[in-house]
Amino acid sequence: MNFSVMNLRNLFLKFYKDYELNFMEKEKPLGIFDSGIGGLTVVKRLASVLPNEDIVYFGDTARVPYGSKSNDTVIEYSIQDTKFLINKNVKIVIVACNTASSVALTELGKQFNVPIIGMIKPGAEAAVNTTKNGRIGVIGTRATINNQAYSTEIKRLDPNLEVFEYACPLFVSLAEEGWINHKATYLIAEEYLKDLKEKNIDTLVLGCTHYPILQNVIQDVIGDKVTLIDSGVASTEIVKSELERIGLPTNKSSLGNQEFFVSDIPIKFTEVAELFLGRSVQNVSKVDIERLIKLV
Ligand code: DGL
Repeated sequence: MNFSVMNLRNLFLKFYKDYELNFMEKEKPLGIFDSGIGGLTVVKRLASVLPNEDIVYFGDTARVPYGSKSNDTVIEYSIQDTKFLINKNVKIVIVACNTASSVALTELGKQFNVPIIGMIKPGAEAAVNTTKNGRIGVIGTRATINNQAYSTEIKRLDPNLEVFEYACPLFVSLAEEGWINHKATYLIAEEYLKDLKEKNIDTLVLGCTHYPILQNVIQDVIGDKVTLIDSGVASTEIVKSELERIGLPTNKSSLGNQEFFVSDIPIKFTEVAELFLGRSVQNVSKVDIERLIKLV
């Protein structure tokens, strides 16, 4: 009799401990990183779909752009960015940078135990589900395009689709300048997209988290028959379903807290960050990422 009461007590304690642990896990923040501030377009979307989740953002503003760097360097930086977030006790890591997603996701998956969500798969899936004529355009940084990240994933999902990929590196600087309606942006977009306009695409993936800032110009230039896919929007749905799958959506009903860390605070930082986020930005701290990582 005593024995079974003991068993029952141990069972209850174990159940309670698991419950408590799970409760604590649920209240950990989402971790998001980008080469700079482009990932704030993903934060903006996440905050509207999962408003109660806390968010820790790291923008590697001192080492941006990643899009023109070698794969080895992007992998090294992405590992450091992920370590930084894991040190902040996040429950999931969102790689809100297409360049890092296309180059480093496999390595991050090997090195870390938390779930890691990239931009390529969700963006590719959304494009495959959107196209009617089977002709998809993709624009991104040089690294994303050279690595054929989107075309490989799209063709894996449906080998019959045609994919046309173009690098548009200047779009990153134009977005950061806030030139969202500037005539120079139109001129550059005309130049970058002129070949793509001949391809009869009906779907265009914005394969860089900076590009949604220039969405209006890109849509005007490519024409209104083409549907734009924002990979950040597509990835948000994946984050939501992944949190449900692992049983870790927050229990909170209050608005989530957001904390921003950057490796440099450039002169126009607040202005540009507010443009990307669509609201005022507070809680920004500068960190020395390379020194911090050595201490971990
Ligand atoms: N936001 C990055 C991306 O989505 C582009 C900026 C960069 O080149 O670092 O690829």
